[in-house]
Amino acid sequence: SLEGFDHYMLKEIYEQPESIRNAMRGRLDEQDATAVFGGLNLTPQQLRGVERIILTGCGTSWHSALVGEYLIEELARIPVSVEYASELRYRNPPIDNNTLVFGITQSGETADTLAALRETKRKGHRTLAICNVVASSIAQAADGGVYLHAGPEIGVASTKAYTSQCCVLAMLALYFGRMRHLSYEGGKRIIEEMQQLPGAVQQALTCDVQVRDVAQKYKDVSNVLYLGRQYNFPTALEGALKLKEISYIHAEGYPAAEMKHGPIALVDEHTPSVFIIPHGTTYEKVLANMEEVKARGGPVIAIASHEDPQIESIADDVIRIPSVPEILQPIVSVVPLQLLSYHIALLRGCDVDKPRNLAKSVTVE
Ligand code: F6R
Repeated sequence: SLEGFDHYMLKEIYEQPESIRNAMRGRLDEQDATAVFGGLNLTPQQLRGVERIILTGCGTSWHSALVGEYLIEELARIPVSVEYASELRYRNPPIDNNTLVFGITQSGETADTLAALRETKRKGHRTLAICNVVASSIAQAADGGVYLHAGPEIGVASTKAYTSQCCVLAMLALYFGRMRHLSYEGGKRIIEEMQQLPGAVQQALTCDVQVRDVAQKYKDVSNVLYLGRQYNFPTALEGALKLKEISYIHAEGYPAAEMKHGPIALVDEHTPSVFIIPHGTTYEKVLANMEEVKARGGPVIAIASHEDPQIESIADDVIRIPSVPEILQPIVSVVPLQLLSYHIALLRGCDVDKPRNLAKSVTVE
């Protein structure tokens, strides 16, 4: 039931502190400073021997795979490639031995993801699912996997499943990292930071009031750019997808620095850019990109850290999020973008929970 919310999408956005907590429940091992998973169905030796990881999925799940790429490469130093499941299933790439293939999916029924996993499994590779729906086709087809425990996601636009996917990928990165180069202290620090996440997401939700004002201001635009770097590059893609699918406004997500190689030509006074710019290693660089957009007359909406006094002097609108370590930022920074798409769609009179032309699970290719 809707439990007092107007739409499932909004309810599911607001459930995220809890769904993230459920994704982590029983999986953070403080004693050994690592993560534990019950269903990988691989021996420690097999897991220790993994030399390459492929993450595959579609749509929003493909975006969480991009977050996973940054996380696993940084914490575990295992090379990762991210593949669209629809491409992987027909592309026939050479896959080395000791490659582990993860299919990431909320529904567990996406035809392309299922086919990509079946094809890699047929070639003899180990396949795992990161999945929400228990006993779904993909969960059954994989050799093992990790459930999200996010609860049913009914809104067609994926929200809580995405943050839970990112959370599970962070725990997998921690787990593989602790088998390799990540120290006990390093692992412990990440566990402590992850334990702060539900609170940080709860705090991020308080931006709803600010987001409503921003939605009101920009509800009639025809194009929006979403820009972010590193861990927030996938966030830019996800923010753009959310806006497209439920408000039918054209939006593009880009790595912020890539903008000058083409998309900046789109910038004018009617084309706002949403910068995902919390504090982090590329903050100054993204700030410079923001100034370039301003200089060309483009309105700027900034998703920025609470402790960032200077951002207001450049951005037209600022939405504040709590500070979390860079590796966990995607889980927090996507929240205002989910809300922004929700409020804009609502103001435009769109059917938020059942956008046109879309189905909750795509069981055809
Ligand atoms: C976006 C969205 C879709 C799905 C995609 C994959 O909000 O819902 O892009 O993410 O169809 O679905 P799953 O994760 O069920 O495989």
